[in-house]
Amino acid sequence: MAWTKVLTVDALAAGAREVVKVGDRKILLLNHENKLYAVDNTCPHLKLSLTKGKIENGAIVCSFHRSAFDLSNGEVKTWCPFPPVVGKLLGKVSPEKTLPVYPLKVEEGNILIDVPAA
Ligand code: FES
Repeated sequence: MAWTKVLTVDALAAGAREVVKVGDRKILLLNHENKLYAVDNTCPHLKLSLTKGKIENGAIVCSFHRSAFDLSNGEVKTWCPFPPVVGKLLGKVSPEKTLPVYPLKVEEGNILIDVPAA
């Protein structure tokens, strides 16, 4: 357990997102509807970036094959539905996995996240 200061809270306005590196991990910080989230920036399907993923119904949707993960706990809401037909096959390339999410707190104007040692 190691709280790491990653950004000032002012640097993450409503609707903003930022990728930070902690150790070997790239972590996506999001300010969605004035709530802050820290999730892995690597989609667990094919390890592609989630940086441009849309947020729909509290889930981040991978822009590649549209797997969707609950922002609060990383649970899979949809696994690889895109493109139609082919997506189902692509989904079998990798077993369904949750998206790592990290505890986050704000102290003295800074965002800290708790990232376990690799
Ligand atoms: S890489 Fe994200 S759903 Fe395929």
